[in-house]
Amino acid sequence: MTRLTPLAEADLSGYLDRLVRDYAADHVRGGRWTEEESLTEARKEVDKLLPDGLASPDQFLFAIVAGEPEAKVGELWLALEPRGGFVYDLFVDERYRRRGYAEGAMRLAEGIARQKGARTLSLHVFGDNAGARRLYARLGYRETNVRMSKSLEP
Ligand SMILES: CC(C)(COP(=O)(O)OP(=O)(O)OC[C@H]1O[C@@H](n2cnc3c(N)ncnc32)[C@H](O)[C@@H]1OP(=O)(O)O)[C@@H](O)C(=O)NCCC(=O)NCCS
Repeated sequence: MTRLTPLAEADLSGYLDRLVRDYAADHVRGGRWTEEESLTEARKEVDKLLPDGLASPDQFLFAIVAGEPEAKVGELWLALEPRGGFVYDLFVDERYRRRGYAEGAMRLAEGIARQKGARTLSLHVFGDNAGARRLYARLGYRETNVRMSKSLEP
């Protein structure tokens, strides 16, 4: 069984370090930021969303807990915005992948978002993240916009 529990204060800074690193690397690959500026820019965006850490309004950070015996296997960050629910991050530790934990966590997040009044749940995924795209397609998410890019380097 998969459960979502509020992320512990003690886990927040390690979690955000990992998130910022991954987010920065994704946007360097995507061409939005240079390597040099990426960590600072990523941290700025995250800090803006979480001005009061775990107590920030409309931001819900969860640990994904699953397995037998139970362990913390990853994290999910759900936000409630005027446009509806938005999943800012979904992460399952490598050693726990392909066991259905992300799928379970997303289904729970859908229930929580619905309970809080959201009528839609959305997220962003990079085009080359085939595994995550397959997961979301399987859960019923549909593409709402597609940004395309081509390298002009020789
Ligand atoms: C994407 C991620 C959250 C998936 O977590 P997971 O717990 O391994 O996913 P699940 O076991 O719930 O996968 C459910 C289904 O999604 C699809 N899927 C998930 N990961 C996949 C992969 N690497 N390749 C292909 N399909 C994949 C499969 O259909 C899978 O079902 P199956 O294992 O029966 O084939 C995890 O790989 C991860 O944390 N990746 C790094 C962070 C990331 O990319 N997050 C998403 C950002 S939008």
